Formats: sequence, structure tokens, C-alpha cells
Amino acid sequence: MAERVWIDEISGHEGKEVTLCGWLYNKRSSGKLHFLQVRDGTGIIQCVVFQGDVAADVFALAGGLTQESALQVTGTVKKDKRSPIGYELATANVTLVDGSTDYPIGPKEHGVAFLMDNRHLWLRSSRQHAILRIRHEVIRAVRDFFDDRGFTLLDAPVFTPNACEGTSTLFSTEYFNTQAYLTQSGQLYNEAGAMAFGKVYCFGPTFRAEKSKTRRHLTEFWMVEPEMAYCDLEQTMELAEAFVESVVQRVIDRRRPELETLARDPAGLARVQRPFPRITYSEAIDLLQSKGNETKWGEDFGGDEETLISAEFDRPVMIHRYPAQCKAFYMKNDPADAKLALCVDMLAPEGYGEIIGGGQREDDYRTLLSKIESHRLSPETFQWYLDLRQYGSVPHAGFGMGIERAVAWICGLKHVRETIPFPRMMERLTP
Ligand code: 4AD
Ligand code: MG
Repeated sequence: MAERVWIDEISGHEGKEVTLCGWLYNKRSSGKLHFLQVRDGTGIIQCVVFQGDVAADVFALAGGLTQESALQVTGTVKKDKRSPIGYELATANVTLVDGSTDYPIGPKEHGVAFLMDNRHLWLRSSRQHAILRIRHEVIRAVRDFFDDRGFTLLDAPVFTPNACEGTSTLFSTEYFNTQAYLTQSGQLYNEAGAMAFGKVYCFGPTFRAEKSKTRRHLTEFWMVEPEMAYCDLEQTMELAEAFVESVVQRVIDRRRPELETLARDPAGLARVQRPFPRITYSEAIDLLQSKGNETKWGEDFGGDEETLISAEFDRPVMIHRYPAQCKAFYMKNDPADAKLALCVDMLAPEGYGEIIGGGQREDDYRTLLSKIESHRLSPETFQWYLDLRQYGSVPHAGFGMGIERAVAWICGLKHVRETIPFPRMMERLTP
């Protein structure tokens, strides 16, 4: 067998005989020629099988191949101007590794429910490759951003004894003789980490029993959360905009072909540069009312409001200082106006809505205790968290970005479900 190579490294093998190991993506035939579109996960290449070049049984085999048959093709790498990757293979031999009959996903259009039921196979298609490669790039950019700035990665637990983001979206599970909850956010543990390491981040799966069937909600999603000691709301907003700018620019730099596959124009993304516009919650209410939306001061924003606001901007917008009453118990109140929380939400443009939530944390023991009580949470389970305010408490802040929401926006997708290999939603636990 000639040297086995991957399709994405084919340009280094021009004129040489190589073997590709993959699956049949598509095929067409005309007389003495079969054109096999072969994919190996790194790319797709056309393998030309000419009757005069191969044994009769190989030509017959190539002609009878079905979609997603596993095969190995040996041939010579040839430059080809018409090929999207610039090369094709002049085939010398084809071996069938395993057949495939009645592959359910054909070239015709399928409904989303059908494709989601076949997610384990749908992952093989070019569009899904583009999205999931961009997801991978976003995750690499996220890690590089924090690693390059001296943050320590401190993973938070998934089993937790208490709520972080409200008790209405908790998944509970048996935990020996007691009950545990799947984490909604690593933030509280990050706060302990920030007091230990100065600046930390966690990145992992988080869970919310969201009963809403919207295009933005998953029950399991991945969140990256930085947390810094000696940091206030202003500084965390600065970090958030530098972070989002760097992630988006990285995707534009390294994943242009994937953006093209998705017909996502990089020009709009290229505008994602600091400074991002900042408005207060009160200004956002005025904006909404001027658009005919009836949200009143004191109410939280839902998907419709986020869509309306974010459609007004050509880059992400940061809304800060929401009413404390619609935010989580751990938020610090604004010393200038105690009705407000020192928090920020970043909304992606083009109507995408919230991708980041964060802010400054309550750092005073007594105030935090009374917040825990007024939110009817149990002070006992939060004892360790309160403890952080007993031993050298300092101002601290951070934020969380949901990877899937960011990827949906960067890719220009309507729904978050395609941004994770196996999405979990209210009505989807399989495959
Ligand atoms: O705004 P959230 O709830 O904030 C927190 O969890 C904070 N504890 C983070 C922190 O300050 N360390 O969630 C943060 C982000 C949202 O902006 C959104 O991008 C994403 O997590 N998110 C979801 N993504 C998909 N499906 C869901 N159900 C999501 N809920 C939140
Ligand atoms: Mg939020």
C-alpha cells in the first residue's frame, strides 16, 4: 500500500502515489469514468476512476459503490484547477472496507427533526463539519486568550449541593443518601479560585432545566467563565470586549473556508472591534419603548427584547446595571443606586441576543448573608461561599460566555442546536 495520507495534507504529495482511507460522499459516472467524492473527515477529494487505468473488477466495484461505503483508494495526486481543494486523485485501485446500504441522509432536503434523529450520521456532512470546526476554533481561542494573560484554569465540579442561577432550572440527581444538582455555572467555585490564584477561569459543561423551547436554549451547554480578584464591573467589561474581539478575529483568520461553506460574510464579523457600545439597562428600556416594546422598568429582558436591542448595533453591545431584583443573589449592588446591580450582559448583534452574563460580586459578609436569606436559599449550603467573605474579602468580578450561543452567532445560525455535536434540549435526549 502506498503511504496513507489525509486529504487536508494532500498538497504536500503532488505527483506521488498515496492511499486515502475514507468514505464515499457522492458519486457520478459517465461512460468510462467514475468520479468518486471521497471524504476522510479532513476534507473531500474527487477520485477519478478511468476504465483504462484500473482492473476490470475495480472499475465495476467503483461503479457500484453506495453513499458512505468505507473504502481505501490508492492513486496519484494531480493538480486540478477546477477542484475546490486544488487537487484530485488519478485512481489506480479501490478497496471496499465495508459497504453501506440505504444511507438515510441523501442529497435531497431533510427536515430538522429527521436530521436531529440522525445526528450521529448528520455529523458527516460538510455543513456540520464547518460549524463544529468553528466551535473547535472558538474553544482554542478562548483557552489561548486566558492562558496568554496568566489565568489559571481551575475546573469547577459538576455535582453541586446548591443553586447558582436560581432554583427553577436545577437538575437534581440522587447522590448516595442525599441529593445533588448538576451545576448551572462554575462561578461560585471560581470565586474561591480567584481568592487563591488571583485570576482563574473554568470551562466545562453546565446544565439548566430550561422548560423553554427557544432557539437559544439548551439544557446542557458549555460555558467559559473567568473570575478575577481586585476587579470591578468596569474592568470585567473591558476584559469581556477584548475577549470577544479576539475570539471572533481568530475565527476570521483561521476559519475562512468554513465561514464560506456556511455563506457567512466575514465583513460583518470584522467589525467586531473594541470599543463595544455600552448602555445602561434604563437606556435599553428607553430604546425598547421607542420601538414599541412594552417592557417596564424592573422587568428582565426575554428573547424578543434582546433581539430588538441587538438588532440596533453592528457589533456586540454591553448593557450594564440591571435592576437588582431581576438578577442573581450574588450580584453586588451599585453604591450609587442600590436598586441596581453591578452587572453586565453582552448581546451579540444582528438580533442574536445575550452571549455573556457577568458582573461584580457581593463581597461583604453581612450583605451577602441577607441576600441569600431573601432569595430563600439555605445559608448552610452556602457556608463555604460566605467563608470567602470572612478571610480577606476583596472586590471581584467575572463573567460567563456560553460557547453555543457565541458559535451560533459567529456562524450565522438561527438555532443553537447545530453548534454542539449532540444537543440536549427539553425534548431531545437522543441520540
Ligand atoms: O447569564 P448566565 O446565567 O450567567 C451565569 O451563569 C454567571 N454565573 C456567569 C458568570 O458570571 N461567571 O449565563 C451565562 C451565559 C449566557 O450569557 C449564555 O451565553 C449562556 O451562558 N447560557 C446558555 N446557553 C445555552 N443554553 C442555555 N440554556 C443557556 N443559559 C445561559
Ligand atoms: Mg444571563
